[in-house]
Amino acid sequence: MNTRFLDACKGLPVDRTPVWLMRQAGRYLPEYMEVRKSCTFLELCKTPELAAKVTLQPVDILDVDAAILFSDILIPVEPMGMKLDFVPGPVFAEPVRSMADVERLCIPRMETAVPFVLETIAILRRQLAGRVPLIGFGGAPFTLACYMVEGKGSKDFMAIKKMMYAEPETYSALMVKLTSMLAEYLNAQIHAGAQAIQIFDTWGGILSPADYEKYVLPYTSRLIRCLDARDTPVIHFVKGAGTMLETVKKAGAHVVGLDWHVNLASAREILGSTPVQGNLDPGVLYAPEEIIEAEVRRIIGENGGRPGHIFNLGHGILPTTPSGNAKFLVECVHRLSQR
Ligand code: CP3
Repeated sequence: MNTRFLDACKGLPVDRTPVWLMRQAGRYLPEYMEVRKSCTFLELCKTPELAAKVTLQPVDILDVDAAILFSDILIPVEPMGMKLDFVPGPVFAEPVRSMADVERLCIPRMETAVPFVLETIAILRRQLAGRVPLIGFGGAPFTLACYMVEGKGSKDFMAIKKMMYAEPETYSALMVKLTSMLAEYLNAQIHAGAQAIQIFDTWGGILSPADYEKYVLPYTSRLIRCLDARDTPVIHFVKGAGTMLETVKKAGAHVVGLDWHVNLASAREILGSTPVQGNLDPGVLYAPEEIIEAEVRRIIGENGGRPGHIFNLGHGILPTTPSGNAKFLVECVHRLSQR
């Protein structure tokens, strides 16, 4: 069993730095596109045999040290009562805009609402047979709220900010509901066999540090406290968190994810002994091999041999990335970090 990833999450020493890539299953892999030809993205997420198949592709092709469940952060929002589409970005035709909209949302029983997620996890644990650990995941309450209130991706996040500042009661009712739903959802993943959990707060960085602390932190920390995480490390990735790492640390996750706007050495100074994950700019994967190698050397150097580093990108891999470069990156991390 390759326990490098789980050991690093616990801050234990490892033989070489574990590496996986956010969004490692996806369109940059021709093998994924082949499966994706026969169905929509949502059908793929909801068909356990296929979801398991594409989860394993980067493990086989890239030799990463962890698998991550193939799904989407918005999957558990649909059974709350919101019709979801991907075109290819997520779209909710009827966004949440009022207290009445929030009151209509339900917190479903996970075994009946998302049986396919739990079954995919069970299949994967059997198929992986200890080869590498399996990561489960969910969105943070705030990032889910952004999509549910905006109705789709956004540049200025006007609708969610308007609700947050002008109708704080509606905002907090929505966040409370999402926090409870996510606790059920992520605990169901843990009980089904997920060996670590990553919480994605892609949009946490659109707020000032003070507003992050006031409007986001209480809900994410409550979520993390509710997780049955005695043996299951929790990774908390907030994109744009570089200026508020002390605050993000207070949420209480075992591991803090870092984008590429922060220097790894300074982040580790601020975070003390808390393990970190990151932090290569995904754009570097367009560069020739010498540059990829130099960047890996730089990041491993900034970590300075401290235990508790998981190498990753600072955000999801881009769909037009040459897959050979992703494979080269993984090989480089393993070779350059060999103890
Ligand atoms: O990491 C993995 O390999 C697991 C799979 C995974 C997907 N989405 C599959 C996906 C994970 C962990 C996610 C998380 C996710 N989804 C986030 C948080 C991480 C991040 O990137 O910020 C967010 C914000 C979403 C919402 C989402 N889903 C968007 C904005 C989009 C469209 C943009 C895009 O990349 O196309 C998706 C679609 C999506 N999710 C695809 C995949 C493979 C592409 C779907 C396709 O095949 O057409």
